[in-house]
Amino acid sequence: MKRKNILSRMSYAALGLITHPQDPREFIQVFNPLSSSHYTRGVVTEVHHETPDSATITFTAGEGWASHKAGQWARIGVSVNGRRLWRPYSISAAEDTAPSVTVKARGRVSEALVYGTKPGDILYLERPAGQFLLEISPTALLFLTAGSGITPVMSMLRTLMPRRPDHDVVLIHSSANQESTIFHDEILELADQFPGFKPRFHFTKSLGRLTLREAGQLAALHPDILERTIYACGPDEFVGDIEAAVQEADGNIVVERFDTRLLPSDYSGPGTLVINNGTEITVPENQSILEASENAGTELPHGCRSGVCRSCLVMMSDGAVKNMRTGEMIDEPGMIQSCISRPSPHAILEL
Ligand code: FES
Repeated sequence: MKRKNILSRMSYAALGLITHPQDPREFIQVFNPLSSSHYTRGVVTEVHHETPDSATITFTAGEGWASHKAGQWARIGVSVNGRRLWRPYSISAAEDTAPSVTVKARGRVSEALVYGTKPGDILYLERPAGQFLLEISPTALLFLTAGSGITPVMSMLRTLMPRRPDHDVVLIHSSANQESTIFHDEILELADQFPGFKPRFHFTKSLGRLTLREAGQLAALHPDILERTIYACGPDEFVGDIEAAVQEADGNIVVERFDTRLLPSDYSGPGTLVINNGTEITVPENQSILEASENAGTELPHGCRSGVCRSCLVMMSDGAVKNMRTGEMIDEPGMIQSCISRPSPHAILEL
C-alpha cells in the first residue's frame, strides 16, 4: 500500500513537471474536457437564439451530472473576465433528452451565455434540483406563467404531451408582446399537434397587466380553472397573487417563484468563495467566510468575530451569502459581514 502511494506520488510529480505550471488534473482535462476533480463540466453542443435577447444553450454533461426531471433547474458556472460566476437556470429540455437551458440576457452570467457562448465551450455545472415537478396523474392541468416562467413549463409540456396526449392542458402565458415571447411558435405547433393542449397568450403591452389576486379573477379567466391542478411560475408577485387566490378558493396549486428560487434559503452544504486575486476557497457547512478564509491562509479584516463591531465588512461583488445569525439572504452586490456570513452557495469578494 505504502509502495503504491509512493509510486502514485512519483507519477503525479512527473506529470506536474511536464505540465508545469498547470495542475496535472488540468493536463488530463485537455484530453477529456468533461473530466474534472472539482466540478461537473459540460460542453456546449448548440446555441439557438429564441428572441433577440434570449438563447437556448444545449450541452453534453460529464461525470457527476444526473438526468433532470421536467421543471427542475441547475446552477451553471461560466468564466467572465477570468472569474467563474454562477447562476441557476431552469432546464427547458424534455426529460430524457440532452439538457438545455433557455436564458434571457439579464445580468453578467446570462449575457455571457446569450451573447458569448458557442458550440465547444465549457460550462461548469451543478446537478439539477428543485421541487417544481410534474404530476402525471391528474389529467386536467392549468399552467399560469409570466415572462421567463415559461421555461420550466416548456420542459413539462415537451415531456408530457407526447407521453400523454389524452391530457387536458391549458396554458395561459403572460409576456410583453409576441416578439419577446420565448417559445411562441413552438407552443402553437404543440397545440396543432396535440388537441388536448390549449395555449393562450396575454400580451401586457396591449392588454395591460394580468392580475389574479382573487378567486373571482381566476374563475373569470377560465371556466373550470379551479377544478384543474394549477402550476404557476414567474416573478414573485405574480406567483404570490395566484397562490393566494387559489388557496382562497380551496384549489390545488404547485408554484415556482422565479426570483426567490435563486435564493435557496435552506441551502446548508459547502459554499464556494472566490476572491478577486483568483483564490477559490471551499467554505464548509457551519463555517463563516472569515473562518474559512483564515483556514485557507487568506487574512480578512475582523474584530469581535461575533457580528457586533462590523470591522469585518468586505465587498461582495457577485453571488449570494446567508447571514448565519438571522438566516437573511443577501444577493445584491455590497458590503457583507464576513464573520457571520457564508456563501449560498457562491460569493465573489473584492479585497
Ligand atoms: S468581526 Fe465584528 S462584526 Fe464581524
